[in-house]
Amino acid sequence: MDGNGRWAKKRALPRAVGHQRGVEAVRRLVRALEPTGLECLTLYAFSSENWKRPDEEVDDLMNLMRRFIRSDLPEFVANKVKLKIIGDWQSLAPDIVAMLEDALAQTANGNQTLAVALNYGAQHEIARAAAKAAASGAVSIETIAAHLDTADLPPLDLLIRTSGEIRLSNFLLWQAAYAEMIFVDTLWPDFEPAHLMQALDDFARRERRYGGR
Ligand code: IPE
Ligand code: MG
Repeated sequence: MDGNGRWAKKRALPRAVGHQRGVEAVRRLVRALEPTGLECLTLYAFSSENWKRPDEEVDDLMNLMRRFIRSDLPEFVANKVKLKIIGDWQSLAPDIVAMLEDALAQTANGNQTLAVALNYGAQHEIARAAAKAAASGAVSIETIAAHLDTADLPPLDLLIRTSGEIRLSNFLLWQAAYAEMIFVDTLWPDFEPAHLMQALDDFARRERRYGGR
């Protein structure tokens, strides 16, 4: 989810407003999830590198997260959205960890997964998984994959990056091995369910060969 800052800048608004509108884009998308039939939608909300931003912006993002969970959790439960968190989320502020634990428990019976990457960095995820695989005595593709944060999620099929940047920025590096990628110029606050539908349409037309022919 990239482009909140540029969205705000274009309008001479504070970055915080861009992030706020970014949350609204998330809400729209989650509300539109059911008819897509998607098993899982993963959102990159806060990277392990985002701590480098000014304290004020980090605080804004954390507060937005608190408010979003508080306001939207009942809707997740009602709509059978199952929350999943990937990344080092347990080291976030204790009140956020508690809110997330409660949200995970309340949504455990959902049938469509909304995975949120919080304090997430793929290289660290892979290193952690490899260390666990080594501790279990067998380092292989399978044992590393089994220890990734996404071990219980379906394979990654499609990765979408907004805002015109064409890089992965340490997101789901392992999982993206055979994922289709779509890069759109749309800034995240402008991202509508229709953009997702378009991406799913494009995805459906791609021929996937996994190295075969
Ligand atoms: C993405 O928007 C939001 C988060 C990283 C949380 P940015 O804040 O990266 O927006 P730009 O890249 O400055 O436009
Ligand atoms: Mg950015």
